Amino acid sequence: MQDGKLDEVLRIARQKGYFWPSYEIYGGVSGFYTLGPMGVILSQDIKELWRSMFIRPFGFLEVDSPSIMPYRALKASGHVDNFKDPMAECRSCKAKFRADHLLKDAGINAPESASAEELEAMLNDNSVKCPSCGASSWSVRPFLTMFETNIGPYEGSRGFLRPETAQGIFVEFRDLYEINRKRLPMGVAQIGKGFRNEISPRQSVIRLREFHMMELELFMDPQDEGAPEPPSNVKIPILHEAARESGQPELISPAEALSKGILKSKWLAYFMYLSFRFVQALGVPPDRQRFYEKIKGERAHYSAQTFDHEVYLDDLGWVEVAGLAYRTDYDLSSHSRESGVDLYAEERRVLSTRKSVRLIVDELRKRDNWQELARLKPEIREDGVYLGEVRLRDSEYKIIEEVEKEEVRKFVPHVVEPSYGLDRLMLVSLYYAVSEREGRRLLSLPRPLLAGVVGVLPLVSNDDMIRKAREVAESLAASGFTVIFDEKGYIGKRYARLDEAGVPFAVTVDGQTVEDNTVTVRERDTWKQERVNASELSRYLRERGSPGLELTRH
Ligand code: ATP
Ligand code: GLY
Repeated sequence: MQDGKLDEVLRIARQKGYFWPSYEIYGGVSGFYTLGPMGVILSQDIKELWRSMFIRPFGFLEVDSPSIMPYRALKASGHVDNFKDPMAECRSCKAKFRADHLLKDAGINAPESASAEELEAMLNDNSVKCPSCGASSWSVRPFLTMFETNIGPYEGSRGFLRPETAQGIFVEFRDLYEINRKRLPMGVAQIGKGFRNEISPRQSVIRLREFHMMELELFMDPQDEGAPEPPSNVKIPILHEAARESGQPELISPAEALSKGILKSKWLAYFMYLSFRFVQALGVPPDRQRFYEKIKGERAHYSAQTFDHEVYLDDLGWVEVAGLAYRTDYDLSSHSRESGVDLYAEERRVLSTRKSVRLIVDELRKRDNWQELARLKPEIREDGVYLGEVRLRDSEYKIIEEVEKEEVRKFVPHVVEPSYGLDRLMLVSLYYAVSEREGRRLLSLPRPLLAGVVGVLPLVSNDDMIRKAREVAESLAASGFTVIFDEKGYIGKRYARLDEAGVPFAVTVDGQTVEDNTVTVRERDTWKQERVNASELSRYLRERGSPGLELTRH
């Protein structure tokens, strides 16, 4: 592993206004980070990219539910009983750490399925030292990692900050299913904050106590998933259960992994493919990604199959950026039981239909004997519709077909979920964007990230040029761009500042601008410059800022 790059990324993140630890004037509180102005833009761009790949092409829904959840809902979901991490307490100084992390730092890999007792024995048998006082006597117990609160002024109304946004979707299934006109598959997304009272937050934004999630819950009929075909011509690295022994992921297409039974759901196969492309679009090369299967005992309590989508960082090794889980009917069934409200879907199968005839009286009236005919009952025969022995013209009637008998199959939909941590995605995106050109730092974030940010620079600091540059800046701002206006210092230094901040284009106003209204546009990664008419600028920047990636459905 290469030390130092992460530090460099974090330095840039702070200096250029992406993110930094919160509450530092009060000494800091671990596990909380503030997004600065560039961080807000980057996070918005990643959210939009995610929507453009996971939501819009499928016509899925997006919701925004409360962050505080009542005790009953999280008791039903299994979080109150299961959402726990093993906490090691030093018997000497009482400092507390996550037991598996302590072991990992001591070079001992504990299985994720290890119980508190087993972890305690491992810490004590291996004389793992307390990072605070150096003693090596430990006790380990499970620690509930949800933040608890009281809802309202009366005691006894317990609530929690949501540990995942997903639960806010499951509890609203009944309305969402109606809104979706009772059609499955139905995807419901939520982008919002998740809260986990991590025992020992670390590694900057990788382990936070309050973080941003992007989650998609795909509800489907397990008998007929209705998923798009996963591709057979793209291979993704899957470290599945059988491959885990060798430690080598299998490069396999999602279609083949599905047909071989490595993946238990077609939607899961499709989302893994999409996830691979999404993380690639954020700048992470394919060979720095893998899907790591969690085996029984390691998976969350609700999951029948889980893959962690991981990204390799030289400093830290493999880091999880997303979890893709097949949650079956676990959540809806649990909420049904606890709430007493049926959360099922219906599949209607028509067994028989009944046909009836509606006469078009205005047409029938054109016949001389229409009054006589109208008294007769229409009869549907093989060769047409009759009133008595008179065969009607097509324009004189309409056949109405109604359901006579149908079968309604009620079932609890199954759920496949891709769940992303936005803060981790931002970090890996910045990590792979940091590069060097002629000894200078660049933040080469892939388009469309930051495509809406542009630097505007008057070449020299005289009144005319500043006035003209302000005009250009105002017009770009009016077209929706975020403008960084910089008139101070040598032009080379100003370009360098923008390059290091990741701003993809710098627009320079010079003497010629005042004469012919053209400006220079300089591109961050190539340093190439082009003269563009100021009136064409926003169209020019939009065209170059859009990635030209095929982001829609496969
Ligand atoms: P880890 O094993 O790293 O603790 P997890 O398996 O608990 O993660 P999930 O429950 O699958 O994570 O959560 C979905 C996603 O949310 C993760 O893939 C990750 O990107 C993000 N995430 C989870 N916990 C945190 C956290 N404490 N800080 C920042 N992001 C997080
Ligand atoms: N919703 C996935 C998780 O929080 O684990």
